[in-house]
Amino acid sequence: MHITIIGTGYVGLVSGVCLADIGHSVVCVDIDTSKIALLNEGCSPIYENGLDDLLAKNREKGRIQFTTDMAIGMKDADIVFFSVDTPMGEYGKANLTNLLAAARTAAQHCSKDHTVFVNKSTAPPGTVSKLKAMIASIIDNKPFSVASNPEFLSEGNAIRDFFFPNRVVIGVEDANATKKLQELYRPIISEKHPLLTTSIQTAELIKYASNSFLALKISFINEIADFCELIGANVKDVARGMGMDERIGHRFLHAGIGYGGSCFGKDVKALVASGEECNFEFKIIKALSTVNDLRYYIVLKKLRKYFSDLKGKRITILGLAFKPMTKDVRDAPSLRIIYELLERGASIIAFDPLAHEEFQKTFKCRGDFSYAHSLLESFRDSDACILLTEWDEFKTIQFNDLLLLMKGRIIIDGRNFFERAEVEKAGFIYEGVGT
Ligand code: UDX
Repeated sequence: MHITIIGTGYVGLVSGVCLADIGHSVVCVDIDTSKIALLNEGCSPIYENGLDDLLAKNREKGRIQFTTDMAIGMKDADIVFFSVDTPMGEYGKANLTNLLAAARTAAQHCSKDHTVFVNKSTAPPGTVSKLKAMIASIIDNKPFSVASNPEFLSEGNAIRDFFFPNRVVIGVEDANATKKLQELYRPIISEKHPLLTTSIQTAELIKYASNSFLALKISFINEIADFCELIGANVKDVARGMGMDERIGHRFLHAGIGYGGSCFGKDVKALVASGEECNFEFKIIKALSTVNDLRYYIVLKKLRKYFSDLKGKRITILGLAFKPMTKDVRDAPSLRIIYELLERGASIIAFDPLAHEEFQKTFKCRGDFSYAHSLLESFRDSDACILLTEWDEFKTIQFNDLLLLMKGRIIIDGRNFFERAEVEKAGFIYEGVGT
């Protein structure tokens, strides 16, 4: 099938490359000329495990093309996916300007009958009907279909998530879209990796409800962690005990400094805003976002136990990305925490295996902030170390070796990643979250 993907961000690029890999002919369109130029040289603008190899393979086989020209992109398209950004707008609402603009241009170049326009961008229920109205105002002489196909890929695991999905959800309203989308995904669908067909509004809500539920699990265990600290319980064991109940499960119960990334924060707020538009109040979902927005504070509280004033204190930050195996720093807890530390006069030396460049682009810092060229260098003369991202590489740290490098003895583990006994045995003070 001929597939057009509009928007080569995380979702668009991974989906495009994977759809090419299962045999479809894919054209990816983006208005960002530098991104398309990079992709046409065979380089991926994002870091994702396995993506470079898959991109090279499918370019070589001629199954994937990249262009800024919508006319080329839309030529022969059977299915058009929109995967453009839907940033947070006023009052937490998803801003659909880019999505609607993409739909307008795509519709202007639509040449085939029965093209299926599918929204993959994360957007609130009701978005596909707005897309449909926009497309219908331009295409007046050809039948076309619309659908919703939310994306559940998780950064760092995106390729695996595509080929072995927990589920593929399609929201449809006619036989043309149903048939084409079923055919598109046939190679990856099985009993273990099912396709769920629903109405369009339902599919749109599944995405928001899923992300909000995962964010809820995290905020829930974070609140339990704070209570653990108060009464001297251990949140890791609480989570373990809870997770043994199959109805609860172990995943997404790791307490820490809160969730970040391009999805959870934005999607939770957008769902609340969608409710408000219908005079509906999401009480639980609203609260989980408040809990997360205040997570940065636990780091400050822990530092305050040891330093009455942070002025001139040199602090090592381990990890800037919002999670390991990505260089993405969108909405990363590191942004707020580092800002607060600098505001209080601390001097920061940060190390992340991948994210220095992205952080540099995003964080407009004032203050004494620098990047370490190596993991060990980040500890030199530092008064305290704070781990914000649980990169595997940080497991190689030999705490005995840090005794000579660091000035102070405080290790704050924002992800409960290190072993307390090991850190304490080397002579450091260990502060976890709820442990
Ligand atoms: C998420 C969803 O998992 C994915 O299905 C959706 O399509 C996009 O949003 P992603 O943003 O890539 O994916 O990251 P995820 O692995 O879900 O982690 C999000 C944040 O939650 C990270 O900052 C992570 O550190 C944090 N987290 C996760 C916790 O603090 N505790 C946990 O137990 C799990």
